[in-house]
This record gives sequence, structure tokens and C-alpha cells, in this order.
Amino acid sequence: MYEGLLKHYKEYLPVTEKTPLISLAEGNTPLIPLNNLSKELGITLYGKYEGLNPTGSFKDRGMVMAVAKAVEEGAKAIVCASTGNTSAAAAAYATRAGIKAYVVIPDGKIAMGKLAQAIVYGADIISIPGNFDEALKAVREIAKTEAVALVNSVNPYRLEGQKTAAFEICQQLEKAPDVLAIPVGNAGNISAYWKGFKEWHDKQGTSLPRMHGFEAEGAAAIVKGAVIEEPETIATAIRIGNPASWKLAEAARDESKGFIDAVTDEEILNAYRKVAAQDGVFIEPGSAASLAGVIQHVKNGKIRPGETVVAVFTGNGLKDPDTAIQATEVAIHKMSDLEEMRQHLRKGVSQL
Ligand code: F0G
Repeated sequence: MYEGLLKHYKEYLPVTEKTPLISLAEGNTPLIPLNNLSKELGITLYGKYEGLNPTGSFKDRGMVMAVAKAVEEGAKAIVCASTGNTSAAAAAYATRAGIKAYVVIPDGKIAMGKLAQAIVYGADIISIPGNFDEALKAVREIAKTEAVALVNSVNPYRLEGQKTAAFEICQQLEKAPDVLAIPVGNAGNISAYWKGFKEWHDKQGTSLPRMHGFEAEGAAAIVKGAVIEEPETIATAIRIGNPASWKLAEAARDESKGFIDAVTDEEILNAYRKVAAQDGVFIEPGSAASLAGVIQHVKNGKIRPGETVVAVFTGNGLKDPDTAIQATEVAIHKMSDLEEMRQHLRKGVSQL
């Protein structure tokens, strides 16, 4: 039976005999071949569907490790700033470990599903008028003076847990991809994947991918080379203007001969709709930055025909139902009798 990351990748993780092996059976997510998009783009494209983790995002990988180490070190509470997914994961794993989670979120700027999760898992939810960067600054200060463990990705155990996704990709593909495309927000995940690919390369002899990271245009601090005071994007998950792992992300880009580029909200929404409508995978807008980037890089030649590309789909589409409904024009056919339905289907089916 699969029992989660801490047991499965024990020898690759900072797990000691004192580490509590907590688990919600996180990780082990599918690598989905995207057949229709592959054909259209002329590459072999897969989605690493991290939205199928227990709280619906990749954050579970890092959080299981960070919470286990916090408990090992005697913490009774954890704290994090979040655009939503980190708070959901922190809340779930704290509950699992029998400790308390304090989550600090930017007021009105987190998707409804994520807020619902923090509420139901029982976190202490603190909302501030500022953005994520300000929330992160606040919790870094708080963690210095209060008896709480900080579990944002500045906590190195987070990246240790998150690197396991790179291991899984190499095992699922039986090689490393040519390109790993990934959304960039606070820049922890791109750094964790690169660490994972390098470790798998050292221990298992796989090759190394080029890392192609994508920031949202209105929050593209690394691309522009300057902090963005008021980041703005429809992809609230990556609405971050001063990424904490900036330097590590640049190192991942440069060592792998990759890129960090920006995608517009329009490109993000296009990719978001496309992967659901063409290949049946529903991801959240922040996650669609990876696919938006792949489409952009196929057009401009940064990804070459025939290459094997893995796009990381960091979170589940159900996290953000409001964007799903607002971003997609749909006619809902209201009808109350069977005959009307029959006619509707008959007309539709006859045109197929
Ligand atoms: N995709 C999703 C769905 C996210 O929630 C995040 C980050 C990212 C991508 C970017 O990852 O920060 O490691 O570069 N969400 C954080 C949060 C900030 O609070 O949930 P990153």
C-alpha cells in the first residue's frame, strides 16, 4: 500500500527515527499524456497533475515534510502566509499532526475553494489588507518572537518535500523530460524541482531537463529584475511581487539552460480553457501559467518540435470555481419537460 512521501522517499528526505511519519497519502500523482495538445503543438506533452494531491495542490508534498519536522522539533503550532493553497495544506497537515495552524491571507484575494478548506480543516485564519508579500514579511517577523514554526517555502523542509515530484516524473517517464514547464510565484517550487532532478541525476543517472518557469505578466518580478509593489493577475495563486526564492529560481534557470518568462492573463486563461476543453484536465488559473508558457515557447522556438515536455499542473480547477464560471462563456439550457430535452439532444446529435 502506498503510504505517502515520508515513507516512500525516506532515504532521499531528512527523515530520522524521531520524525513522525504523518501522511495523507500525498504524492504519487498521475503524469497525464495530453494527446490533443501534443498533436496541436507538435511535441510530446504531459501534465503532472498535482491537483490530485489530498488538499488539491502540490503544497502537500512540502507541507507533510515541514509539519513532520516542526512536530519533531517540539512545535505546537505552525504559521504561514498564503495565496490560498499553502494555507489549505498547512491546515490539513496541522490537524493530522494534532497541532494548530495560523494562516495569514490577503483579504479578498484568495480563491473560494481554498478559503473553504482552511475553514473546514480548522485553521485560525488571519486576513490582512495587504498582499502576499506583506503577509510573508509579517509571518517571518512573528515566527522570530512567538512559539510557532514558520512553514512557508523559506523553510528548507518545504523544498525537500516538493523535490519528490521531480523523482516521480523521472520514474513515470523512465527518463527526465527535455523541458519542465512550471508556474513561478514565490519561486520555491521551481527551485525544489531542480534540486530533485539533480539528485535523481546523481543517484539514478537520468539526464537533466531545461527548466522553463513562467510568472504572470503583472507579477513578473524575476523577469523584470525588480520587485513589484502591487502585483496583479487573475491567477491569484501567483500574485506575488517579491519572490522569496528569487536567487534559487535564477540558479535553476541558468544551470539548466532554461528560461523564466512572463505570460499574460489572456494567455493564462486561454491555456486554462484549452486543457479542460481539449484534453479533459481541469486546473486552476495559476497552474495554467505552465501550459501558457509551453504554447508561447513552442511559437517562439524556445521549445523545439518533437521535444518531451512536462507541464506542472500545480492545483486543481475546483479550487477556484468563480474564475471557472466567469472566464468561460456558457449557455445553460433551462428546460423542464422531457420532450423539450429530446428535441434539444436530437438537434445537437444530428449535427455531430
Ligand atoms: N501554482 C499554484 C496553484 C500555487 O498555489 C503556487 C503558490 C504556485 C503555483 C507557485 O509556486 O510559490 O513555489 O513559485 N502558492 C503559494 C500559496 C504562494 O500561498 O499557496 P511557488
